[in-house]
Amino acid sequence: MKIKNIKVCAFDAYGTCFDINSAAQNLAKEIGKDWLSFSTTWRTVQLEYTWLRSLMKKHEDFWRVTEDSLDFAMESHKIDKKFRSKLLELYKKLNSYPELVTCLKNLKEKNVKTCILSNGSPSLLNELTAHAKVQDLFDDLISIEEVGIYKPHPKVYELVTKKFDCKPEEVCFLSSNTWDIVGGGIFGYQSIWVDRFGKTFDKLGYQPKFKIKDLSELIKLF
Ligand code: LAC
Repeated sequence: MKIKNIKVCAFDAYGTCFDINSAAQNLAKEIGKDWLSFSTTWRTVQLEYTWLRSLMKKHEDFWRVTEDSLDFAMESHKIDKKFRSKLLELYKKLNSYPELVTCLKNLKEKNVKTCILSNGSPSLLNELTAHAKVQDLFDDLISIEEVGIYKPHPKVYELVTKKFDCKPEEVCFLSSNTWDIVGGGIFGYQSIWVDRFGKTFDKLGYQPKFKIKDLSELIKLF
């Protein structure tokens, strides 16, 4: 099956283009064998805080949320506070997934526009993409800071259709976060789930038409 009538590919950042576990993994020796479970708590709480802050109408940017969730994860996993600043530094320079560059270049050849659509604040997105040397391969880096509310609020997904002056169904949205795929899909995007780890899909009233294992498979759908 092919995806049709796409003008722009919008990519989620954290977990989709960038490996969220790479910060803790790069410090695994110091953190110990529990590093992945610690990293999972950090990510889970980070997302929970985005949803809770949006519901409470108490918005703080993604960096603040990342710091707060790190503090929670460090306290609950009894990680020495001396690693805090190093972990935060590493989070600003997460490893990008190796197939990202080729994926973006392939889309350019097909004349498909590309952007990031992320909870990350503009400065974080600039730093992440500059570090991974992919900044120039995206036509835009779109941050939820423009609307001051986190995914999966529909206002977030509307940012792409407004910027690229297109219809929701002309957007191909890629995310490894199942709830993000649901949010984009319900908004009207053609959502593609990047299922790197064979996860269970959310039961939230939407199923994606397309699933790929990593970004190298995307071009086969065009
Ligand atoms: C993002 C998070 C949800 O990049 O992964 O928006």
